[in-house]
Amino acid sequence: MKPFLKWAGNKYQIINRIGEQLPPGKRLIEPFAGSGAVFLNTDYPSYLLCDNNQDLINLYRYLQKDGPRFIEYCKTYFVPENNNRERYYELRQEFNMTENRRKKAALFVYLNRHCYNGLCRYNSSGWFNTPFGRYRKPYFPEREMLFFWKKAQRAVFLCLDFRESMAMAEPGDVVYCDPPYVPLSCTANFTSYSSEGFGPDEQRDLAREAERLAARGIPVLLSNHDTEFTRTVYASAQIVSFGVQRSISCDGRNRGKAAEILALFKAAGAGLPQAGGCPEGESPAKAIS
Ligand SMILES: C[S@@+](CC[C@H](N)C(=O)[O-])C[C@H]1O[C@@H](n2cnc3c(N)ncnc32)[C@H](O)[C@@H]1O
Repeated sequence: MKPFLKWAGNKYQIINRIGEQLPPGKRLIEPFAGSGAVFLNTDYPSYLLCDNNQDLINLYRYLQKDGPRFIEYCKTYFVPENNNRERYYELRQEFNMTENRRKKAALFVYLNRHCYNGLCRYNSSGWFNTPFGRYRKPYFPEREMLFFWKKAQRAVFLCLDFRESMAMAEPGDVVYCDPPYVPLSCTANFTSYSSEGFGPDEQRDLAREAERLAARGIPVLLSNHDTEFTRTVYASAQIVSFGVQRSISCDGRNRGKAAEILALFKAAGAGLPQAGGCPEGESPAKAIS
């Protein structure tokens, strides 16, 4: 099932590759949940879904709690009168100003489908500032939201930095990490890059955390671009690499294949993955016996 939100870096396109590498476990932890593409297309008994985007986690909690009633409320914003530049900027302002968390959650869905490229971007004061997207008839993802709501009954959603969510892992858990990508061109000692406040230091910290959890017998699968840098910091992991068709330049004209890496950190001597996280209906992940 496709996620109901458009989300930069979402992993829907490569979900089968990820499913093949995910070991079975009693709970899947995602410190970088984003749109939840992996959560939606795996079958673990329970999930801990975290992200440091507070608007995202706020939305997931309303959807989890209120389901169809909340979906109907979100739908009220998807009317032709709200699909023009002037109204978009009014509603964006309302989103930024309101203290009503339920309204903010519904407006986040509206903005995601009406803004430019579904881009979730904030200015330095933390205000959502993506411009109007000019879509003829924005799609309301009712079916996708219903699916998410049902599945969310076995999930816990927390707004946390990845270091905090990884510290919550226990033996029996499996962790899937999908951080903001390193740049495709980066070398082993890159220093200057920082997207969403996620630079080389954070990437290294994350790899170190993954090593620590693996040493405690908790497997961690990490996604990223396949670069000299990721090959270096993921040196202790078992690596799978493949090409993914995607738009590389920001205007979408320059399409090509980007090399993607999946790095599995696990205790020495632990067996190979048994397709634990395969898409539902194919090879379900069962609790470790
Ligand atoms: C590549 S996206 C994850 C995409 C997700 N796997 C999907 O399929 O939609 C990376 C996510 O990491 C979150 N993020 C960035 N820095 C973070 C941090 N320090 N701690 C936790 N989450 C963070 C972003 O909000 C974003 O949702």
